[in-house]
Amino acid sequence: MSNDYTGTVAGNENAQDGTKAAADRVMIFDTTLRDGEQSPGASMTLSEKCQIAETLDAIGVDVIEAGFPIASDGDFEAVSEIAKGADNAIIAGLARAIPADIDRAGEAVRHARRPRIHTFVSTSEIHLRHQMKKSQEDVLEIIAKTVTQARGLVEDVEWSAMDATRTDLGYLARCVETAIRCGATTINLPDTVGYATPAEYQRMFEYCRAHAEGADAVTFSTHTHDDLGLATANALAGLFGGARQIECTINGLGERAGNAPLEEVVMALKTRVDALPFSCGIDTTGLTRASKLVSMASGFSVQYNKAVVGKNAFAHESGIHQDGMLKHAETYEIMRPEDVGVTKTSLVMGKHSGRHAFRQKLEELGFDLGDNALQDAFRRFKALADRKKHVYDEDIEALVEDFSEEAADSARVMSLTVLAGTGGPQKAILVMDVAGRHVTEEATGSGPVDAVFNAVKKILPHEATLSLYQVHAVTEGTDAQAEVSVRLEQNGRIESGRGADVDTLVASAKAYVAAVNKLAARRRQHAQAV
Ligand code: KIV
Ligand code: ZN
Repeated sequence: MSNDYTGTVAGNENAQDGTKAAADRVMIFDTTLRDGEQSPGASMTLSEKCQIAETLDAIGVDVIEAGFPIASDGDFEAVSEIAKGADNAIIAGLARAIPADIDRAGEAVRHARRPRIHTFVSTSEIHLRHQMKKSQEDVLEIIAKTVTQARGLVEDVEWSAMDATRTDLGYLARCVETAIRCGATTINLPDTVGYATPAEYQRMFEYCRAHAEGADAVTFSTHTHDDLGLATANALAGLFGGARQIECTINGLGERAGNAPLEEVVMALKTRVDALPFSCGIDTTGLTRASKLVSMASGFSVQYNKAVVGKNAFAHESGIHQDGMLKHAETYEIMRPEDVGVTKTSLVMGKHSGRHAFRQKLEELGFDLGDNALQDAFRRFKALADRKKHVYDEDIEALVEDFSEEAADSARVMSLTVLAGTGGPQKAILVMDVAGRHVTEEATGSGPVDAVFNAVKKILPHEATLSLYQVHAVTEGTDAQAEVSVRLEQNGRIESGRGADVDTLVASAKAYVAAVNKLAARRRQHAQAV
């Protein structure tokens, strides 16, 4: 057993085809749409999820965990739509160790080219005693039954030992052996509560691989949470213990402090191949776009100093650093911005640019829109170019990713007039399209944003309270588009919305309406389910 991460690489002997390259290949399992979406306030619409899945599939993610099908009809529909659409990735549906969950997951992934059921049960003493009230022998029986059931539905079954890192190692190895005997093809050992250190995490994999019969025939997986800021380090340590799949999320979205960020894991593998002798199949130039997409859909902004995808990740401010960069980029830059898909801000188009140029620009930025979406995006581009002299790549990305306008059945902002200034009270006159009907309302407020939100409330009455209001400029300059995020809370449910516009108040109205639409969609889903 070794704590030396540059030492022996465990797991090489597992190569199916006997080649070293196959043995060192790490599968990237993305759970943004399941563990990520479990973050309070990060719920996404069906079309947002499908767009994210399409992007993940395109950049080479090996497994997309598309949701938890038994959780709601919405989750089921998302998993099954993503399963139908995926070109390459394995599509996984999560299931507790309950027969109805497993059947539902099997049904949801049925149409995938490569379906997977991912089932889990707790194994730690603390969970067994206080949460499940089951004995260790009971849990072994549950593992045998549920893995057998899942394996009857699909060939590819992943089994997870929830709270593995706080489980007695001897017992954990028995659980792993049971799951393998009953047909599991991937064994995931999560650090559910983000408690492990890298050395401990590595050791757990080494122990289970050495003590569970059949371990050589399956793939071991990491699943790490960031409660102590160790999620990425632990995931990489798992590889030295013999794991060959990493579960992660874009931007590190996920329960509590989140999961290991996909972009960090992947760029660590690419940048430090000397110390981390593994490979994965991700096209890293798609990372920035995936990050923006997830940030937009979840309403969770990416912190400026976030590794790899933060706005400042490649910015050099101090004089010494700038001097070094000008002389030789590698003095202070370990990754090239273009390797993660950061393009230099470029002046692109204006109001005279045509549809053909616009389509070409979208392709360059990595968007592949269908005819209707393209037409809609072009209409919005023209409207933007009429109001904004310089249209940058970031502006185009913001308008294409502005999900607030897309749902055919939801309410949308048509026009807004605001009277603001020192006089007060501020007043907003808002026109909205609500299910095809134009509705106009006026409202006052203490400040223009309050007036706008009050007008929305008159058109779409609700009890939600505003828990977050944030404005970012998409580009530099006073004519930059504003990107507004809002978070609303109602009866313990949190929903986020975003909107972009050159007018901050219009962007605010769009963001607020997007969040109200999501709350209404959730209510409808809930009503259908009961
Ligand atoms: O953190 C965890 O243990 C999980 C399991 C459901 C895999 O998310
Ligand atoms: Zn988790």
